[in-house]
Amino acid sequence: MFAPEIVGKLVKLEPMDESMAETFYSYINDPKPNRFRPAPPVESVEAEREWIRNIGKSEQDIVWAIYCLEDGELIGSTGLHRYERAHQRAASGTLIAKPEHWGRGIGSEVVRLRTDYAFKELGLHKLNSEVIHGNTASLRMLMRVGYRIVGLFRDHFLRDGEWLDFYLLECMRKDWELARPDCR
Ligand SMILES: CC(C)(COP(=O)(O)OP(=O)(O)OC[C@H]1O[C@@H](n2cnc3c(N)ncnc32)[C@H](O)[C@@H]1OP(=O)(O)O)[C@@H](O)C(=O)NCCC(=O)NCCS
Repeated sequence: MFAPEIVGKLVKLEPMDESMAETFYSYINDPKPNRFRPAPPVESVEAEREWIRNIGKSEQDIVWAIYCLEDGELIGSTGLHRYERAHQRAASGTLIAKPEHWGRGIGSEVVRLRTDYAFKELGLHKLNSEVIHGNTASLRMLMRVGYRIVGLFRDHFLRDGEWLDFYLLECMRKDWELARPDCR
């Protein structure tokens, strides 16, 4: 689905395009930012290009590239996935690839912009997300905008021989309205 440009104070969100394939291939195959992401590595730059091409045509996904306004760098991606028009819901996810961009409020702004878009422009009823146990930054980032923990899958993810639990989060429209009263 079409991903419109959205500009905040720290970031600009833009539609992904094939020219970004090489950058995202390196980001997705870098173990550090992907430590808490269940997505498998990508085989080649061409496979990444193909993924970007397909996602642009998908009726169930909206994916944005994230640019840091301070240094102009392409730093990651965020998206709404498994969009179900009939049930007015979607799942969400974010990757900020370089640790030097972490902990500066960027993720929180990205999630605010994406969540405002989901409820205001798409008219969704709820969003959901999944966070691997131990990913405190992701949990805090999501809960600030109205996501709540609604469940836990135990031993859901095997990383380096260790079983990890998986939090399930939801953000209902009413949770977002409470968290972002000025944005309705
Ligand atoms: C998760 C991620 C998107 C957060 O982005 P970010 O720009 O670092 O987030 P923010 O700076 O807005 O911080 C969000 C919250 O996490 C806290 N936080 C940031 N880094 C933290 C850390 N290493 N440990 C604990 N808390 C941390 C912040 O203090 C803030 O909480 P607060 O609002 O209560 O103060 C980013 O770290 C990332 O992309 N990590 C790798 C991929 C990933 O894990 N994606 C999520 C998959 S579910």
